[in-house]
Amino acid sequence: PGTMPITLRVNGETHRIAVDPRATVLDTLRETLHLTGTKKGCDHGQCGACTVHVNGERANSCLLFASMQQGKEITTIEGLGTPEKMHPMQASFVEHDGYQCGYCTSGQIMSATAMMHEKWGPNDNDVKEALSGNICRCGAYPNIVAAVQACRR
Ligand code: FES
Repeated sequence: PGTMPITLRVNGETHRIAVDPRATVLDTLRETLHLTGTKKGCDHGQCGACTVHVNGERANSCLLFASMQQGKEITTIEGLGTPEKMHPMQASFVEHDGYQCGYCTSGQIMSATAMMHEKWGPNDNDVKEALSGNICRCGAYPNIVAAVQACRR
């Protein structure tokens, strides 16, 4: 199949790239831009491992065509913070051991940071509900909830 030239804004940088018109944002991030912090779990919108921000709102990058995101601002876990200068939510996940294998972690953190601008209640159950689109197969949920709660206090 042929490719088409597109302009994609990712983490504040402009990328002029050629993509298959059917390429997802997830595959484009990982394979074209080599930003591998965003993970592929199900590739069907069901696990949340691929969560990024599009114009500040969370989105499953496996469900979006890269060719349709021109003019939008995409943020990935690499754009949120660095090991030297972590986002407070990243630091809180480290502090509270909010992971086991770590595969779902970038999606959890991208979801949690986007959620800070959404309306949701103060209880642990509200956190679980708000993060219910992000699956952790290790079952690290108690520590994930603790990390999010500590960050928003
Ligand atoms: Fe996108 Fe699972 S990889 S939701």
